Amino acid sequence: MTNLLHILPLLLLLLLFSSLSTLSTLAMATTPPHQNPYNPFSLETPSQLVDLAYHMGPVVAASPTNLYLIWYGRWDAPSQSIIRDFLLSLSDADGKNSSSPPPAVASPSVADWWRSTACLYTDQTSANITSGFTLAQEYRDAAYSHGTSLSRLSVQSVIRSAVTGYPERLPLDPYNGLYLVLTSPDVRVEDFCREVCGFHYFTFSAIVGVTVPFAWVGHSGVQCPGMCAFPFALPEYIGGGERNGTAASNNLRALGVPNGDVGVDGMISVIGHELAEMASNPLINAWYVGDDPAAPTEIADLCVGVYGTGGGGGYVGSVYKGEQGEGYNLNGVNGRRFLVQWLWNPVRKSCFGPNALN
Ligand SMILES: *[C@@H]1O[C@H](CO)[C@@H](O)[C@H](O)[C@H]1NC(C)=O
Ligand SMILES: *[C@@H]1O[C@H](CO)[C@@H](O)[C@H](O)[C@H]1NC(C)=O
Ligand SMILES: *[C@@H]1O[C@H](CO)[C@@H](O)[C@H](O)[C@H]1NC(C)=O
Repeated sequence: MTNLLHILPLLLLLLLFSSLSTLSTLAMATTPPHQNPYNPFSLETPSQLVDLAYHMGPVVAASPTNLYLIWYGRWDAPSQSIIRDFLLSLSDADGKNSSSPPPAVASPSVADWWRSTACLYTDQTSANITSGFTLAQEYRDAAYSHGTSLSRLSVQSVIRSAVTGYPERLPLDPYNGLYLVLTSPDVRVEDFCREVCGFHYFTFSAIVGVTVPFAWVGHSGVQCPGMCAFPFALPEYIGGGERNGTAASNNLRALGVPNGDVGVDGMISVIGHELAEMASNPLINAWYVGDDPAAPTEIADLCVGVYGTGGGGGYVGSVYKGEQGEGYNLNGVNGRRFLVQWLWNPVRKSCFGPNALN
């Protein structure tokens, strides 16, 4: 859905009573049963049960699509660099810009992830989702223009401030633009940590001037890493808060972070999730499951918690382990590694990612 829900799972109980210690990448599903009516165990294998439907609206097809990034609050350079590298790993992925060929990135890459899933969605004009993004411009709102506690609607006001700022501002780009608002660790956002880790929607003309798709993702590092930076942090009730708690005694361990920052590494998968859903359902009238656009289950919602083969229902799946035990499934620019959840592949009719073993 437009919200990325990461709510604490009953499935966890199963975990505690299973001998899952062979997979050090084990973790629990993050989709509550009421949120996903489909058996998470079946999502990695082809399923005809998932009735993902096209509702006649447009997908984000401009190639490349311009991504405008808004850093809200206080951000440090190392955190920004991780996120920027992830977005650059998606940028110009098709190599159409011959003056800047895509950098050589080991397979499976972030661009492979996008091409093998998101790009397969089309709209009624037969346009595929864009194969590339350009990180067109960034805007810093280090002065918290709308305070440290934002409502869902005031995220749109943050965008308005960014496109009307003086002396520097972002362009208002209703044809090829997507806007991504990232809030720093100290910023509270309505429903953040309780119901959502990020969401996407479109702006209202009355607030921003035009209708443009946007997404917000929060930095959960101090507020709720066990919920929104899973599987790099575990929820407190299974021992995420105390090292020698239940989790440790059951060999439940958080996965090592590929870029050294639980909050930011956790944001990467949420950003990927929201970008994929924003591209496939930008105006909430294109690709989703069910008949209720107010609570759509979208192409990333179907695969929350699945990062590799065997994932779902308690496991992140088969992912790579780095030298220091860090978990990842995709490679990016500048030698970066990222862990990003899989997406629903409409051709295979299953969750898929380029690190699949089969
Ligand atoms: C191609 O890349 C160059 C160098 O990065 C950039 O200046 C130019 O604007 C890009 N062109 C397009 C069409 O994206
Ligand atoms: C566009 O989508 C169709 C239908 O899923 C797919 O067969 C085709 O390979 C896609 N094209 C690209 C360039 O990804
Ligand atoms: C927790 O476990 C570590 C290593 O197993 C041990 O050194 C430490 O004393 C334990 N702490 C507590 C509070 O039990």
